[in-house]
Amino acid sequence: PPDNLALTPPMGWSSWNKFAEHIDDATIRAMADAMVSSGLRDAGYRYINIDDGWQGTRDRNGVLQPNAKFPDMKALADYVHGKGLKLGLYTSPGPRTCAGYEGSYGHVEQDARSFAGWGIDYVKYDLCSGEWFYADADSVQRTYYQMGAALKATGRPIIYSLCEYGRFAVSRWGQQVGGHLWRTTGDITDDYATMSDIGFTRNPKFAPAGPGAWNDPDMLEIGNGGMSDDEYRTHMTLWAMQAAPLIMGHDLRRTTPAALRLLTNRDVLAIDQDPAGVHGQMVRKVGDVEIWRKDLRDGSVAMALFNRGERAATASALPADTGRPTIGAMRDLWAHRAVPAATRFRIPRHGAILLRIDGPAPPN
Ligand code: GLA
Repeated sequence: PPDNLALTPPMGWSSWNKFAEHIDDATIRAMADAMVSSGLRDAGYRYINIDDGWQGTRDRNGVLQPNAKFPDMKALADYVHGKGLKLGLYTSPGPRTCAGYEGSYGHVEQDARSFAGWGIDYVKYDLCSGEWFYADADSVQRTYYQMGAALKATGRPIIYSLCEYGRFAVSRWGQQVGGHLWRTTGDITDDYATMSDIGFTRNPKFAPAGPGAWNDPDMLEIGNGGMSDDEYRTHMTLWAMQAAPLIMGHDLRRTTPAALRLLTNRDVLAIDQDPAGVHGQMVRKVGDVEIWRKDLRDGSVAMALFNRGERAATASALPADTGRPTIGAMRDLWAHRAVPAATRFRIPRHGAILLRIDGPAPPN
């Protein structure tokens, strides 16, 4: 990768899924506090990202000011940094953001310098408004390149998150314009139909991924209450298998024990964060069950069994699914136990099993 940022998929939190525009300085500080006290920071979640709704107007020199709910962005960044966390912000290349706030149009370099000056570590650049200047792939790439170059020119290490919804085959050029991750789809919502459409059907089309270059199937909904625990387990498993960024989207002060277990399972996070950065893929389908594989750097392999059906199903991971002539010990990562290689798993409706199987690397 061109820089050493985002060598594994970024992990953190964003304000949008839960709070939309109802955010202020106190809420962001409270999220930073809760990230630490819940143990989520120590599990690896580091970014606190302020999404749309922080912007005010430009002063007479054109410098973008936060709105009254964010009196001092630099002080907020200092506070977040003091907790061992990093701070992210959101803007758009158009004159207006998706929620109608001031965008960066005509002020790209100036805004990048403001962000760097405040101590911002992550910028999400969302393709909203100003359709006339990005109607085609070339214009979109130039637009994203301009902000990427402006961020780089500040000299501050800033993760650059592209959001053009997979319209222009972004995974083929996202890294060249300075991006570290890019949305592949429209917005996630807190329901199984949308989450599974993104995770099983849309995001897989953007594979591969790799260190510093991640496909982003959008932020997590775990903890927001619209899906069952089995469905949220599928959400986390699908994102981990595809090396997706793990940006939480719930109220961190109200993380239920069930959500915390899904978000902090160290063995599962290690699959998502595996340094090889492989974007896992489906290798077999049996009835309603999809069997997915992700090769890991140490020669072991992650296998996931997803039941997309409406009733419980039984399935097993066959040695051939792993791409290896022989397989070693097998561990069920959600159940926290070793399991025999021939195990047939009962998978609940909309549920998932995630296995890590030791084995020699496949022959090339
Ligand atoms: C778009 C993005 C969302 C969020 C909103 C903010 O819909 O896809 O993730 O940033 O804009 O307005």
